[in-house]
Amino acid sequence: MMVSPEYGGAGLDTISYVLAMEEISKIDASASVVMSVNNSLVCWGLETFGSEEQKRKYLVPLAKGEIIGAFLLSEPEAGSDATSQRTIGEDKGDHYLVNGTKNWITNANSASVYLVMVQTHAEKGSKGINCLIIEKDTPGITLGAKENKLGIRGSDTHSVMFQDVKVPKENRIGEDGFGFKFAMKTLGGGRIGIASQALGIASGAYELALKYSKERKAFGKEISQHQAIQFKLADMATKIEASRLLVLKAAWEKDNHLDYTLSGSMAKVFASETAMWVATEAVQVHGGYGYVKEYHVERLMRDAKITQIYEGTSEVQRIVIGRHILG
Ligand code: CAA
Repeated sequence: MMVSPEYGGAGLDTISYVLAMEEISKIDASASVVMSVNNSLVCWGLETFGSEEQKRKYLVPLAKGEIIGAFLLSEPEAGSDATSQRTIGEDKGDHYLVNGTKNWITNANSASVYLVMVQTHAEKGSKGINCLIIEKDTPGITLGAKENKLGIRGSDTHSVMFQDVKVPKENRIGEDGFGFKFAMKTLGGGRIGIASQALGIASGAYELALKYSKERKAFGKEISQHQAIQFKLADMATKIEASRLLVLKAAWEKDNHLDYTLSGSMAKVFASETAMWVATEAVQVHGGYGYVKEYHVERLMRDAKITQIYEGTSEVQRIVIGRHILG
């Protein structure tokens, strides 16, 4: 959506993107996580930091929707602690030799292009990390089984193993050692996408609860006429509106080339906690019907949980916010 027409994209701004994310997430967060990773992390990262050759070769088919991409940062022992990368990219002159394992990779099976963070100079810590563009069908890559997740079950998540995978030097993004900053800058925008996903899940659950509360009768009247339910609906609507304003502020800052790291983290932590709370309350409004699969609301509650975990847990967002507040 946000890639410029020059590279085959729709050329839309971030505000348009978050509006679309919200609408799709009201119905299907599995579809919107594919959309989020592909747009915010893979395409934005390539368009902003990739070379002209990399953009022509990889961004154009991604932006046209011919292929999708995946973003490989997390590892068995490097989730929130993203600088502790164990996947090695050994410098072999004209290429890197990649060995290691990545975990929890969204789109791992359906993607054709991977953006992979590797440690190339372990002694340099975060400055020894690079991002390599690796084609999924490169020899030496194998996938683990599809993860059996609580929610977003329609999106494919796998671990990815690299054994002696040869990657040409021209597939490195940016200067040597730019990989960690690349990941952080890219995730900064990704967090706006996940915040809008959370907003959509919350809005979808609220709309279902509102509709049900006007249909279901108890004690001689619609349950929406009982104050206990009205208070829940009022709190849901208020928290959703606050989330929407935070999401739009972050998107507006990004569109206006301002620093959106703080607003993106604030939007993500608030919207994801709102999504979890609203979806749980929406199940409560449905009573027993909320607990069975015929009603979509239980799925939204399961989907909401992941928004507090991926692209930086709620704890990581608070670290980012705390550091900004404290300078
Ligand atoms: N922009 C630019 N540079 C940044 C940055 C940012 N937003 N954040 C940090 N950096 C830079 C720092 O300035 C520092 O560089 P200098 O040494 O030159 O100053 C360097 O990066 C290292 O930074 P820190 O010392 O702050 O790093 P840290 O180890 O303390 O990490 C952290 C901070 C915020 C916790 C970070 O590790 C983090 O964000 N972790 C979570 C990772 C994450 O979001 N994982 C999600 C995986 S992807 C995913 O989920 C996608 C999916 O499938 C849906």
